[in-house]
Amino acid sequence: MESTQLIYGKPLKEGLAFEIDVKVEEFLDGSLDIDEIEALWRQYPLLVFRRQSLLEEELVRFSSLLGECEAVSRKDILSPYSDKVIYFSTLKYADGRNLGGFAGGEDVDWHSDQTFRPSPSTGAILYGVEVPRDGGDIYWADQYRAYELLLPDVRRKIDGRIGTYRYAKRLGIMNATELKGKFDELSRTPDVFHPVVLDHPLTGKKALYADPTTLVSIDGLTEAENAVILPLLFAAGGDPSAVYRHKVLSGDLMMWDNGCTMHRRDVMTLEQPRLMKRTTFRLPASRYCVPH
Ligand SMILES: [Fe+2]
Repeated sequence: MESTQLIYGKPLKEGLAFEIDVKVEEFLDGSLDIDEIEALWRQYPLLVFRRQSLLEEELVRFSSLLGECEAVSRKDILSPYSDKVIYFSTLKYADGRNLGGFAGGEDVDWHSDQTFRPSPSTGAILYGVEVPRDGGDIYWADQYRAYELLLPDVRRKIDGRIGTYRYAKRLGIMNATELKGKFDELSRTPDVFHPVVLDHPLTGKKALYADPTTLVSIDGLTEAENAVILPLLFAAGGDPSAVYRHKVLSGDLMMWDNGCTMHRRDVMTLEQPRLMKRTTFRLPASRYCVPH
């Protein structure tokens, strides 16, 4: 099916990002078929919908069309209205608690979500209800392109290899203020293991799965080889030729596939209100690049 003939919009970056000029409600009321968006999403792992106005229930329903939507156990960043929606915000409740996850104004490094979990949910939606005017741009990097950028002998070294992904590494890098008090407990999170190259089951394309915030070593390589190879993977993962920079506006809904992209965020001002809502959902390994 030629999806781009059915869904109107324009590429923001070829092979990575596409802006769709439709309302999410059109998928919810059956005017548009979710299969069309899946085909488009295979070509562009980041899809951006502008000027959306969505209830949380609609956000969850849309996410659930794409994969099993995840209930979140962290109560401190959970929406009071849905156990499947979390908030990132500079706002506070009347009693002084942060409304949601609060990373401070510092930038956030390149990463792929949930790589520290044994079985990551790789589908993600971020919906900007209120977005600061200044700073906070989000960048996505195409990990198919990152894999292509590697020299053939580096690819041969990592193809079929398993990496060790450690949450404590991320804790040492990220600036999530609300996690600081839990550092000791979280740093004991057990290591997990994933392939460092993921194969797309339908297209056969290979994506680099080397999250610099968690990947600590690759099995079968010596310590000296790891010390050489890992920095090459991390450099390719954030290579400027693979990156799309998005100036987020209020009403933007961004959906991306963590199996074949990484993302990061710029420094942002804390003086302006910010409320982002996020869902994560389990993409099936039969149709997506999934670490398993
Ligand atoms: Fe993230």
